[in-house]
Amino acid sequence: MKHDGTRQLAVITGATGGIGKEICRRVAMSGFDILAQYHSDRAAAEALQREVEDNQHLCRIVQADLASEAGVASVCSAAEAMRADSSGTLEIRALVNNAARLLGPSFDEATVADFDAYMALNARAPFFLSQRLSRNMPPGASIVHISSASAHFSSPGDIVYAVSKAAVEALTKNSAEALAARGIRVNAVVPGFTNNGHSAFTIPEAVRYMSSFAVLGGVASPTHVADAVVFLLSDTAARTTGSILDVSGGSMLGARGPRAHSVRDLL
Ligand SMILES: NC(=O)c1ccc[n+]([C@@H]2O[C@H](COP(=O)([O-])OP(=O)(O)OC[C@H]3O[C@@H](n4cnc5c(N)ncnc54)[C@H](OP(=O)(O)O)[C@@H]3O)[C@@H](O)[C@H]2O)c1
Repeated sequence: MKHDGTRQLAVITGATGGIGKEICRRVAMSGFDILAQYHSDRAAAEALQREVEDNQHLCRIVQADLASEAGVASVCSAAEAMRADSSGTLEIRALVNNAARLLGPSFDEATVADFDAYMALNARAPFFLSQRLSRNMPPGASIVHISSASAHFSSPGDIVYAVSKAAVEALTKNSAEALAARGIRVNAVVPGFTNNGHSAFTIPEAVRYMSSFAVLGGVASPTHVADAVVFLLSDTAARTTGSILDVSGGSMLGARGPRAHSVRDLL
């Protein structure tokens, strides 16, 4: 709750994923009510809601396929309904665009349908969620996109995913200027390989491969990403907009050894 008695709502997409769950927990702990979007895993969404509410924070869940226009609209409607129901005490002060399709088809294999599916979820949904929800955000509100280090190095095996994340970073910079006059900040967090609970993180060869990208070695935990999100949403980051915050362990630095085609080839 803010000093003036208003409560602040954070809309968080991909809340059932390995990173999204941790973002929800930590953003709630930092003082936000949560609207958590999920796609297919209702049980995980309900478990997250119980956990956040057991810790005395409000959490609502909304199902949506964000690759569709209707899915984007239903998340916006759910947020706007929460705001309307609060009689002016709840403000939409944060949006975290975290939902995504990961990895992705290679340069040789990608089809038009693949390309469109990745772009729809990873780039189009963040664009239109930002456009629509920002209309009801007050000055001081903040948007954080989750990008990927893959937008910064070549990995032709995951080229479509990388292209979609490069679009997210262009969205970050351009919408930061578009929204600056309204006092809304826009930033991105850039994870490298992060243990999201996927079985790949139990395969030593795959973990060795993923660790070889980071100059700090190893892979990240979802907490590293979530803490960066909390910082960017907070007033501590009041002078930070249009920035790309790297939590990849330095995966974007320097030359690396021989690459596999994609981590998918090691699963
Ligand atoms: N993990 C990494 O190594 C890594 C590295 C760099 C960047 N990132 C970025 O970090 C973010 C979170 O990744 P993660 O590792 O937590 O992924 P994850 O565990 O696979 O979670 C993906 C999330 O996206 C949701 N989702 C999938 N398809 C959807 C759709 N059509 N509409 C709406 N939601 C959909 C899933 O919902 P359901 O579970 O309900 O279906 C889930 O909540 C992503 O933006 C990713 O690109 C991750």
